[in-house]
Amino acid sequence: MKHMDIKEVFARKELAGEKVTVCGWVRTARNSKNVAFIELNDGTSLKHIQIVVDKESGIDFEDALKLGSSLKVEGTVVEGRNGVPEINAQSITVIGTCPAEYPLQKKRHTLEFLRTMPHLRGRTNTFNAVMRVRSVLAQAIHNYFKDRNFVYVNTPLITGSDCEGAGEMFQVTTIGYSTEYKNEQEYYENDFFGKRAGLSVSGQLEGEMAAMAMGKIYTFGPSFRAENSNTPKHLAEFWHVEPEIAFAELPEVIETAEDMIKTVIRTLLDTCPNEMKFFDEHFEKGLIDRLEELISHEFGVVTYTEAIKLLKESGENFVYPVEWGCDLQTEHERYISEKVFKKAVFVTDYPKEIKSFYMKQNPDGKTVAAVDLLVPGVGEIIGGSEREADYDKLVATMKERGMNLDLYTDYLELRKYGSVPHGGFGLGFERLIMYVTGMQNIRDVILFPRTVGSIR
Ligand code: 4AD
Repeated sequence: MKHMDIKEVFARKELAGEKVTVCGWVRTARNSKNVAFIELNDGTSLKHIQIVVDKESGIDFEDALKLGSSLKVEGTVVEGRNGVPEINAQSITVIGTCPAEYPLQKKRHTLEFLRTMPHLRGRTNTFNAVMRVRSVLAQAIHNYFKDRNFVYVNTPLITGSDCEGAGEMFQVTTIGYSTEYKNEQEYYENDFFGKRAGLSVSGQLEGEMAAMAMGKIYTFGPSFRAENSNTPKHLAEFWHVEPEIAFAELPEVIETAEDMIKTVIRTLLDTCPNEMKFFDEHFEKGLIDRLEELISHEFGVVTYTEAIKLLKESGENFVYPVEWGCDLQTEHERYISEKVFKKAVFVTDYPKEIKSFYMKQNPDGKTVAAVDLLVPGVGEIIGGSEREADYDKLVATMKERGMNLDLYTDYLELRKYGSVPHGGFGLGFERLIMYVTGMQNIRDVILFPRTVGSIR
């Protein structure tokens, strides 16, 4: 069906007076005395185009006024109110009719209501804007790494090892467990891979292997977490950006994270002014200023030990008590970034007991070279570290944690054959989208959210 994107009709001023064909779905319609107005949207632009139907023209427009119907419209581009292009219809074809029970009748529905219809909510202004921002950010991230000689690698989604060592993996199996098996080992031996397998929580371990060959790599794909966290910022399936850099220590990891965040937000503000204005008006007043402010200042850096001191001295009544050694909860993360620093802040050098086995052990014997990036409003959006590059130290930690070393032979060999300092981080893509749009719930920044107790 040959037609022009509505975005193009808005963008090309020289189309005034020309005949064009556009397609789209009816967003609103108004029937007045001599003319009918239809607001049409094809998804290419946040703004709808106004179709003006002269009732004398003989066009059969009754069905074309029904919300949700899909139309093909031929007409002339004219300059409407405030110089915004609109189309004087010469012919209208209803491609698909839409009955009155179409659920998106109101101008504004609640996000909770829209969550019940993931197949349709993309047709609302909010999701149109979210999905465009998501797409622009994804491309900006690819460009960021491409421009800096990173190689884009695809790491496996099905894995035999649990990267974070936290046992929160979904199991991948083709057979159910039954009492016919003598024990777990026999069960796994009979399963598809002949051993226990799961959906990867992170591409990092394989990413490290790739970085040991290609120097600088990144992955951008789904990660899976079977954690029972029914919160506004946890998904069971989320998109994960994971760069890994050879010959790099923690400060370079932090520098890359800050530069990447700033660069992609700059691109977003420049590429999506209408969408960002929409979020600023409807979801978070002052959003654009907040982002401009963020990218024009250095991010804060504080050690975990200093952060604990700040939290203890705060006089705040936290739900989770603060002691050195505790995991930082969202309330703590938000206090640090919102009240103390009032900007994005890296927290570094966490106690080794609360972090993953692979992180580089600091000389103090108590902490590891870890880093989390906390941002106001959301909390943690990035987690990373310098990796332990010393074979003996890594093995000792894994043994202390009771890990099965046989599952990590490849990973350990990297520390034998030309080991180098290296590090990287993982950015939760949906958390970044929440931060830049002001959306409060992670379920509203991915088309089809998978969360504990919910899938369709
Ligand atoms: O801090 P995490 O667990 O770190 C890793 O997975 C490392 N292997 C990354 C690396 O160094 N290559 O996860 C990284 C980020 C978090 O900061 C968060 O933004 C996001 O992934 N994340 C989630 N996002 C949505 N839902 C979940 N359940 C998430 N779990 C982590």
